Amino acid sequence: MYSLIRPALFKTDPETAHNLTLKSLNTAYKFGLLPTVNGYTRPMKLMGLDIPNPIGLAAGLDKNGECIKPLAALGFGFIEIGTVTPKPQDGNPKPRLFRLPEHRAVINRMGFNNHGIDAVIKNIEAARFNGVLGINIGKNAVTPIENAAADYLICLEKAYAHASYIAVNISSPNTKNLRALQGGDELTALLTALKNKQAQLAASHGRYVPLAVKIAPDLDEAQIANIAHVIIQTEMDGIIATNTTIDKSALGSHPLAGEQGGLSGEPVREKSNAVLKQLVAAIGGKLPVIGVGGILSGEDAAEKIRLGASAVQVYSGMVYRGPELVKECLNALKQAEG
Ligand code: FNR
Repeated sequence: MYSLIRPALFKTDPETAHNLTLKSLNTAYKFGLLPTVNGYTRPMKLMGLDIPNPIGLAAGLDKNGECIKPLAALGFGFIEIGTVTPKPQDGNPKPRLFRLPEHRAVINRMGFNNHGIDAVIKNIEAARFNGVLGINIGKNAVTPIENAAADYLICLEKAYAHASYIAVNISSPNTKNLRALQGGDELTALLTALKNKQAQLAASHGRYVPLAVKIAPDLDEAQIANIAHVIIQTEMDGIIATNTTIDKSALGSHPLAGEQGGLSGEPVREKSNAVLKQLVAAIGGKLPVIGVGGILSGEDAAEKIRLGASAVQVYSGMVYRGPELVKECLNALKQAEG
């Protein structure tokens, strides 16, 4: 089905096609037109949560939580919405989203365009979704990086009651200096503040909501080792590896290789997998690692699980393969288990 509509979507400007796809999914869901995925279920625990299977939707596809149930109906075991910021913001000027079909890749410099945490919470409430929902949080572009923690704390506090888990995004390349939060003192300070707030919220809500940290693929071995150390020390509940890469060398002389932004899809796979492998070794099973980056086939998902990921997420693969990819990933895991 998706292979039939893909050519038309690919003739349309990428951001328009994206919005159209979410709208169509919502409509199809409303009228009961989405085929039920009789996917493989492999109930398991992830960060203490019960998930029906380990294939998740990565952040950024449904930034505002406007399509939660239709996306879940595609067979995902968990859905991550966001990145959401305290205040609504428009993001970067358009065009800011590019397809590179020759590389099965995407470049984006969206810049956390979102309706703000209050509006997103209204959408979550309206959805009445009872599956596993992650809310990915970030900072507003206008907030100076020295005050970033305040933005994350606002989002954590507001999102807490509505999330199965919270993902702390410190790895988008499209918000100035955000990735600096992945380093030594800044990282410890931010994660300690979030951990303290989580403890307060867990007590007041009578429910523990796990915290996962999402990191970049553009990190060297020493940086990864340090991140693993700080994440263990501050008792985070999970790591999501990885976000998009700023390294465009895999694109050669492609006309879009010079576009600013984060590269995702096939060209990020190797880098993401290298980070995943190193993280898994450094973490030593103390907390789960969720593998993201370059999953375009069931085998790509199975590979991440073999490298030690407890679960995986997909984004760009949905652009190139459509809902079929979720089914294929589930089947690949089933086969891997024999
Ligand atoms: C993203 N991604 C992303 N990640 C995040 O934490 N917050 C966000 O708001 C976004 N926004 C976003 C927009 C677009 C258009 C893309 C393509 C990606 C990153 C995404 O969740 C994922 O980590 C990477 O894209 C790598 O996975 P794939 O796309 O190779 O499967």
